[in-house]
Amino acid sequence: MARRTIVAGNWKLNKTTDETRQLVRELRNKLAGLDSAALVVVCPPMTSLETAVDAASETGIAVGAQNVHWESSGAFTGEVSREMLEAIGVEYVLIGHSERRTLFGETDGDVNLKLLSVLRGALTPIVCLGEVLEQREAGETEAVVRGQVRAALADVAPDHVPRLVVAYEPVWAIGTGKTATSEMANDVHRLIRGTIADMFGGAAADGVSILYGGSVKPENADSLMAESDIDGVLVGGASLEAESFAAIVRAAP
Ligand code: 13P
Repeated sequence: MARRTIVAGNWKLNKTTDETRQLVRELRNKLAGLDSAALVVVCPPMTSLETAVDAASETGIAVGAQNVHWESSGAFTGEVSREMLEAIGVEYVLIGHSERRTLFGETDGDVNLKLLSVLRGALTPIVCLGEVLEQREAGETEAVVRGQVRAALADVAPDHVPRLVVAYEPVWAIGTGKTATSEMANDVHRLIRGTIADMFGGAAADGVSILYGGSVKPENADSLMAESDIDGVLVGGASLEAESFAAIVRAAP
């Protein structure tokens, strides 16, 4: 199955509703007429999701949330469910971003519960994972990443695998200006695909889009996306300005 090329922007804790409307409009203008096969996704904060969906309608830009809870409803203060996201036209959701893991205590088990819940509905999950600096320096990248993939994807039904998107974000490259070289990133992407192949078979693994994230900029986006197993990018800082995010979209093959 052909893999989708995806360029996604993770806005993190940035942009009010007015700023969201403006940024989506600027993006729409900059991307108008662009003949690209890449799927473009913006992930604003929860308060801006509806505004983004509205501003992005009929532009080809899709909207994703940055988090979701695995329960549909109940006494879970501060959380939102996949049903709530689907009801306002959100199409994607980030799961297990490293900031959720390190700052908010999200575990591999939580990531798995969220993924299984999302796959019961219509959202496209983008499962984020990656090693921290100490793990890379200790030569543990392979074991850590394999373990994260196995834990996140445990009990996923084989027929749901084509809907999966994985984002490899080495934590030491996030917001630091340090990017993994394209070759380094591609090696880990191959490892991720190999682990998915061990779990679900090679054909299924071939269809999973694996994005790279961590200090992606217009200057490095094309060499990253030129790699065989890098199917797109998940962009933080550079997605907050229409000019730089549009330049990254234009770099997609
Ligand atoms: P930066 O692009 O700012 O390094 O952030 C990457 C990221 O965490 C995207 O989810």
